[in-house]
Amino acid sequence: VPLAVFVSGRGSNLRSILEAQARGDLGAEVALVLSDRPEAPALEIARAAGAATWSRPWPGREGRDAFFEEADGALGAAGCRLICLAGFMRLLPAWLVRRHPNRILNIHPSLLPAFPGKDAQAQALAYGVKVTGCTVHLVDEQVDHGPILLQRAVEVHEGATVEELSQRILEEEHRLYPEAIRLYVRGGFRLTGRRVIRAGGEA
Ligand code: GRF
Repeated sequence: VPLAVFVSGRGSNLRSILEAQARGDLGAEVALVLSDRPEAPALEIARAAGAATWSRPWPGREGRDAFFEEADGALGAAGCRLICLAGFMRLLPAWLVRRHPNRILNIHPSLLPAFPGKDAQAQALAYGVKVTGCTVHLVDEQVDHGPILLQRAVEVHEGATVEELSQRILEEEHRLYPEAIRLYVRGGFRLTGRRVIRAGGEA
């Protein structure tokens, strides 16, 4: 299954996906990595792994539709039918989401629906929760909102800092995202309403 990955920054989740692919553990191949930041370190990671890349500097609000039309053309040309957002900092336009129904995945560093949006780890610390974590979900037209595929919990230690908590969540993200992709491409998820049931049994 040819996979497209959208990135904006560091690219550690992209790296974990590429590593799973290299181990033969993904069930998919990263066919194209797309970015709104041509200087993103994530693109270097993609190139080093031999993945094709597409990037354009972010054109601003007025250029948004044209940006995503071109991006969509590129991922279509690469034959991608599954799209992963991995630290991609732009909101996808609704028309693009509708064009790929239930075929776009995102990872978010909290247990959704708690703490959507930016700085989820800092939000969790400030709120004082004792458990947070990470979520892989299907992308719908609202931010950090679509049906949940997998979640993993991470305890918030006494006196934790944002950096330390983020690091511990990130380690779980690196396991969770490849696992979600693997299950997804194997047909391991079934959607009923906004509930995702694991094929073969339990939710
Ligand atoms: C991760 O924490 C991810 O959950 C969030 O953005 C961060 C991206 O990190 N959406 P990286 O670029 O994958 O290292």
